[in-house]
Amino acid sequence: MNALNKKTIEDIDVRGKKVLARCDFNVPLKDGEITNDKRIVAALPTIKYLMENGAKVILCSHLGRPKGEYKPEFSLAPVAKKLSEYLGTEVKLAEDAEVVGENAKAMAAELKDGEVMLLENVRYRAEETKNEENFSKELASLADIFVNDAFGTAHRAHCSTTGVAAYLPAVCGYLIQKEIEFMGGALANPKRPLVAILGGAKVSDKIGVITNLIDKCDTIIIGGGMAYTFMKYLGHSIGNSLLEADWVDKAGEMMADAKAKGVNFLIPVDNKVGKEYDENTENMIVNSDEIPDGWMGLDIGPASQELFVNAIKGAGTVIWNGPMGVSEWKAFEAGTVAVANAVAESGAISIIGGGDSVAAVTKLGFADKMSHISTGGGASLEFLEGKELPGIAALQDK
Ligand code: 3PG
Repeated sequence: MNALNKKTIEDIDVRGKKVLARCDFNVPLKDGEITNDKRIVAALPTIKYLMENGAKVILCSHLGRPKGEYKPEFSLAPVAKKLSEYLGTEVKLAEDAEVVGENAKAMAAELKDGEVMLLENVRYRAEETKNEENFSKELASLADIFVNDAFGTAHRAHCSTTGVAAYLPAVCGYLIQKEIEFMGGALANPKRPLVAILGGAKVSDKIGVITNLIDKCDTIIIGGGMAYTFMKYLGHSIGNSLLEADWVDKAGEMMADAKAKGVNFLIPVDNKVGKEYDENTENMIVNSDEIPDGWMGLDIGPASQELFVNAIKGAGTVIWNGPMGVSEWKAFEAGTVAVANAVAESGAISIIGGGDSVAAVTKLGFADKMSHISTGGGASLEFLEGKELPGIAALQDK
């Protein structure tokens, strides 16, 4: 799948047309304030293009999971405010609990070329996540053209991501185009060596990604909590470290598959272990085959850092998904810092996907040094698994 095979906003005449643009404004909020507006910023190029080209722009998104009911704490009001600041013009929110209600209809009817409005949280409607026809039709009735730019939600087949595309000419925006160009390019035609760094807690979450990447990568680096399931397969004592016992055999199969295909498959050779799952727990460095009973691995150790850093150094392309340890804790962030630093210094095309690794890279101050930071968590993971994303598949082919 490649967005280049899909029509984009530049392939359709938007002037004077009502354009329903689905964005992913699912941003974190604290006390009603947006704590990270990266997804809003990432949507701006498409919105600005539509405004500058004389479209009447009707934006929509979900926010959180209100489960088909109107709940004020899930309102898109803070997003409307933030968008107004960024666009330098008022973005009015159609405050309808049913999303496509009297306010939305009246506002859409009055929109002038170049103006922008925002619908309420599409997940106020129970039909949204079930992709039911009636809500897709209601959304479509507001507009002449559908633009999907919600990469982060492209793995969901919902009314506002796929259903509506059956009733309107449907094209993608710049964000989806950019995400697929980077990630699709890295998988289809990478500058080699292609190195994938996979971390995070659970091997079961990453099976699909590892399986798909074994056929594409030169090197696969495994860190984070999931590494202990691989160590268990090798017969190492892993103490109280995270283990998915049901996946030990699968972990072994993947290692064997990688070996058969000539992929350099690296797992940690040492670990920083702690007594408890606690930021301030007593800790020490031990080899991977020597984790004592009663201790748990919470980060990779210095020898693993060196091993991984050396593998990253010569990379042409790096895909990174998932931290190396509990990187939100100072005592256990060193592995993730070392890897982030190596990726930043490598000169490779670097693609960071998945919520946790993006948060780690951003917090540690390496975000500006990466070629592409995906706005998708689940969506980027499914893309790396080689799955078709329904929100993109539904769009018109070129
Ligand atoms: C995300 O944050 O990954 C997307 O916005 C999708 O949200 P969802 O997992 O609630 O569908």
